[in-house]
Amino acid sequence: MRVFFPWSPPVRRNSLAEGADIGGRPRDPFESRGLLSHDGAAVPTDIDPSSAASPDLHDEDAIRLSPLERLVVSLVAFFISVFGRVTDLALLLLRPSLLRPYLAVWAAEIRASPYRWPRSFEALRATKQAGQTIRELMYGEVLLASAVFVFWRAGVRRGSRFVDLGAGRGRALLAARWLGAEARGVELLRAHVRAVEGAMVRAGARLEVGDAAEADLSEATHLFLNWCAWRSETKLRMRERIERCRPGTRVVAVTRPIEGSQFFRVSAWPVLFSWGFEAVHVSELGAEGPTGEADSP
Ligand SMILES: C[S@@+](CC[C@H](N)C(=O)[O-])C[C@H]1O[C@@H](n2cnc3c(N)ncnc32)[C@H](O)[C@@H]1O
Repeated sequence: MRVFFPWSPPVRRNSLAEGADIGGRPRDPFESRGLLSHDGAAVPTDIDPSSAASPDLHDEDAIRLSPLERLVVSLVAFFISVFGRVTDLALLLLRPSLLRPYLAVWAAEIRASPYRWPRSFEALRATKQAGQTIRELMYGEVLLASAVFVFWRAGVRRGSRFVDLGAGRGRALLAARWLGAEARGVELLRAHVRAVEGAMVRAGARLEVGDAAEADLSEATHLFLNWCAWRSETKLRMRERIERCRPGTRVVAVTRPIEGSQFFRVSAWPVLFSWGFEAVHVSELGAEGPTGEADSP
């Protein structure tokens, strides 16, 4: 069974990351009805799909879990979370200047969990404008150690210009900074950016609100796509944008590699994310195959 349910710290049920509820619905319709959202909250099954109050949460992604399965999923996610925090902190002892920004991002997560479904007008507006669905905002993060490992294998170093497309709360940007690279993130959801923008500045990274498929990538040397929840239409838009990047640009993509005859596979690694192990594929854009260091597991 494939599960995408990152563990989220306890948050007040009515706390919304971005203010108003959509469509005047009761603020907490997520009562136990046997379906789960990505964070383990129950997804309502009786809401009107055409209503703005039902941001396509009850579609094919809602997975029925028995109480026992739910417990197992929560326990696994909890242990990954603890393991992730311990390894992150151990790594950060080697880069103490990133410790404060990291703790600020963590504190922001405790205040307002990114793992809750966004239910604001702003989230709906941003997804409509990008031609996407709320489901595509499903949240999960790469652990710092995982990111440092795969980015380093992909060649991210001092002098690299790393861009995270769909940067969430910026954990991957901290990994790129750990490696000494310039780090920039583009995130559709304003609430994520607002929550951590100060911390990102202190880390020397840039996190901006926007549609990643419209971002300026002309200077990028490395792109990161944690795009598991994106629909194929969104992936296609993203690919069309990346195809116009400079030859030699490396694309680090989670679960599935970027497709296309212009992209050459460099390597693939299984690494740990906030929800479990996932393959991470490194490809390079270029007419003649990968240049420089090409490694494989
Ligand atoms: C699975 S999270 C990954 C967060 C981060 N990159 C990490 O790996 O830790 C995917 C993020 O992509 C964002 N997203 C979805 N569509 C986007 C788009 N068109 N432009 C920018 N961000 C987008 C979502 O809001 C979400 O925060």
